[in-house]
Amino acid sequence: MSTDFLPLEGIDHLEFYVGNAKQAAHFYRTAFGFSLVAYKGPETGSRDLVSYVLEQRKIRFVLTTPLLSGHPVAEEIRRHGDGVKAIALTVPDAAAALAETVKRGGTAVGELEIRSDADGEVALSAIQLYGETVHAFVERKNYRGRFLPGYVSMPVPDPLASPVGLAHIDHIVGNVGWNQMDHWVRFYEDVMGFALYQHFDDADISTEYSALMSKVMAGGGGRIKFPINEPAEGRRKSQIEEYLDSYGGPGVQHIAMSTPDIVATVRAMKARGVDFLRVPTSYYDELPARVGAIAEPLDQLAELGILVDRDEEGYMLQIFTKPVEDRPTLFYEVIQRHGSRSFGKGNFKALFEAIEREQDRRGNL
Ligand code: FE2
Repeated sequence: MSTDFLPLEGIDHLEFYVGNAKQAAHFYRTAFGFSLVAYKGPETGSRDLVSYVLEQRKIRFVLTTPLLSGHPVAEEIRRHGDGVKAIALTVPDAAAALAETVKRGGTAVGELEIRSDADGEVALSAIQLYGETVHAFVERKNYRGRFLPGYVSMPVPDPLASPVGLAHIDHIVGNVGWNQMDHWVRFYEDVMGFALYQHFDDADISTEYSALMSKVMAGGGGRIKFPINEPAEGRRKSQIEEYLDSYGGPGVQHIAMSTPDIVATVRAMKARGVDFLRVPTSYYDELPARVGAIAEPLDQLAELGILVDRDEEGYMLQIFTKPVEDRPTLFYEVIQRHGSRSFGKGNFKALFEAIEREQDRRGNL
């Protein structure tokens, strides 16, 4: 099937709407090792929004905050707290991306926009995704500036940042409401030209208390992966329901970032105060029998709480942070792949039980 109506060059950036971008930028620079590379705000002529652009290897985050209470962005933050507003994809032609996706049932967010400055021009467009999240399309082939027109570059190197080894975005997971997963699977198939890559039902992802279902959609030649979760019936409230209640609807649940050395990356992040979920130590007693020989020392994985899973193609290591906001919404995954292209199905039970212990501590289970 050749569905190249929407050629994608990669994930351009993620834009977050946050209540205080100055402080959020400080967190991602010091705790996650990102470098501040560009900025826009009142000093650069942006009177209503301030944005900080952070990078680590191929990962780019944009943290945006409104300067006035009545601003529509302030209203979104009131509804959701801090979270991901836009998953922006680099495309060769933003006008074509908008036309082709709208023709297939996508909903345009605004019109095609051309921004320019002395470094050239960028074309931007966007369509609606789940909740108030959007997919933006960024055409930057005629631009040689640091990020986008209107931003100024920041001094290099960033004196606050010291990278922890995070290299690129492995996948971005969305939580949607009851019975909405297949709707968004069809959106990715029909509107974006993605294909179903893997799926997990409530038999795969359930604990004594709660369950969820997940389908992984892949596009951009298979390099871009967006799993979609929906809650499933269980005895107690699932983590997906807790998210939907706390975020005020569907949105991005977690961002998985890959590293070539998960032990070093997680050690550095922990030293800077990032909180990770913990599984019981019994997990490590059973690990050698379940995954066989791996390169990483088991004692260090156990010390840091890193999880391991194996499939036919190889193995992978992963670990999850606790939510990075006070609302139990967005969190991060750090992942290192050794051949495996899956998502850690063998860890689901231990992991979701760890999440439920946290949910219970919040009084939300
Ligand atoms: Fe994940």
